[in-house]
Amino acid sequence: MMKKSNNSSLHQAKNAKKDEFYTQLSDIENELKHYKQHFKDKVVYCNCDDPRVSNFFHYFSYNFERLGLKKLIATCYKNQERDLFSTGSSEQAIYLEYEGDKNGNNVPDPEEIGIKTLKGDGDFRSKESIELLKQADIVVTNPPFSLFREYVAQLIEYDKKFLIIGSQNAITYKEIFPLIAQNTMWLGYKSGDMAFKVPKHYEPRETRFWIDEEGQKWRSMGNIAWFTNIDHSKRHEELILYKPYNEKEYPKYDNYDAINVNKVAEIPCDYYGVMGVPITFLDKYNPKQFEIVAFREDEEGNKYLFSHSTGLIELIENEKVGTIVAERERERERERERERESTTTLSDRYSMARIFTGEYLSDDVHRRIDEQSKRHDDKWQKQIRKNTHSTTSIEGMIKNAEGKIKGKITYARVLIRRKR
Ligand SMILES: C[S@@+](CC[C@H](N)C(=O)[O-])C[C@H]1O[C@@H](n2cnc3c(N)ncnc32)[C@H](O)[C@@H]1O
Repeated sequence: MMKKSNNSSLHQAKNAKKDEFYTQLSDIENELKHYKQHFKDKVVYCNCDDPRVSNFFHYFSYNFERLGLKKLIATCYKNQERDLFSTGSSEQAIYLEYEGDKNGNNVPDPEEIGIKTLKGDGDFRSKESIELLKQADIVVTNPPFSLFREYVAQLIEYDKKFLIIGSQNAITYKEIFPLIAQNTMWLGYKSGDMAFKVPKHYEPRETRFWIDEEGQKWRSMGNIAWFTNIDHSKRHEELILYKPYNEKEYPKYDNYDAINVNKVAEIPCDYYGVMGVPITFLDKYNPKQFEIVAFREDEEGNKYLFSHSTGLIELIENEKVGTIVAERERERERERERERESTTTLSDRYSMARIFTGEYLSDDVHRRIDEQSKRHDDKWQKQIRKNTHSTTSIEGMIKNAEGKIKGKITYARVLIRRKR
């Protein structure tokens, strides 16, 4: 029994150690500049931040007036490693409140910052921290990677706006991906490489590790992302696509009615069916241009397509839909032909819109589409939702080894469809 508890505390200590990555001020500045208008009159809470070392606290206290903040709160998790803090150690968790510059020097002076002690250890899940969270409008920090799932769940539970750093691996967590698919949360501006200061006791590594002239240890990671539910302009940028669809370069999966796309830049500009695209697509995801969809199946083997953005399920009756799709393809080809002949060329997008609004559809296809949309009533939807299961372990994602093309396993993919 004793041995077990020792092991588990050792394990916890190991995990906690892995969480000490300090964000650089420049990374915070480069991201935060895209959200300035959202901070006016807001209470900002940094809940995994020792204000003595956190650049998040530094950024918000020094930019308090510029952003027009109402209040800044930061909680410091109980000091676990005495050597972490340059200003000496404290076993006591603290929190800080700053309400702006009082003496007119535009600098957050120590006497303007209220330092208060916490009874507990400052864990973001503790009652005290949750009380502070309730006061906050926006939470901004780099939380412990090892607790990312719980951390996000708490922000959603308390309905907070947030801008946080995490690993891109988190995108594929079954607790995180649905939030992205439903547009409850999305990626921020910058994704990719980021370097962090790490504590003295961190072991050197062969790669992505260095010690600077001042003896400070650093680590970098290539798969970092900002996660947020605050709107930003990049989310509204249209992904410009140039490559036309062809069967050879975009093969269909053996087990899903979707084509495989290997590079985000090569998403075909004229394909309106379901596509499996690399996860890095999410960095470019404009929810007005694309939606994330998922395949479902019922006991009888009927296949359905579920749209995360609308919550609607469409029946893909193989034969019927096959006919509709074939008909649409033929219409598209005829339209292209007309375009080639015509001097006033219609854009693909416009002609597609005309096809899908029904202008070129035969009566029979009209009838089938009508039948299908009638089924989109609530009762039908609820019934289907109850009686179908996702064909992938995470709805809307083909995880490694789930997708196959000619028997060969494909990489992890997000399932998307263009919006019409
Ligand atoms: C990735 S580091 C980032 C630190 C700081 N936010 C920054 O960006 O520089 C995560 C921090 O969360 C702290 N932490 C770990 N577990 C925590 C918990 N349960 N509650 C609050 N903070 C925690 C760690 O001590 C660590 O300092």
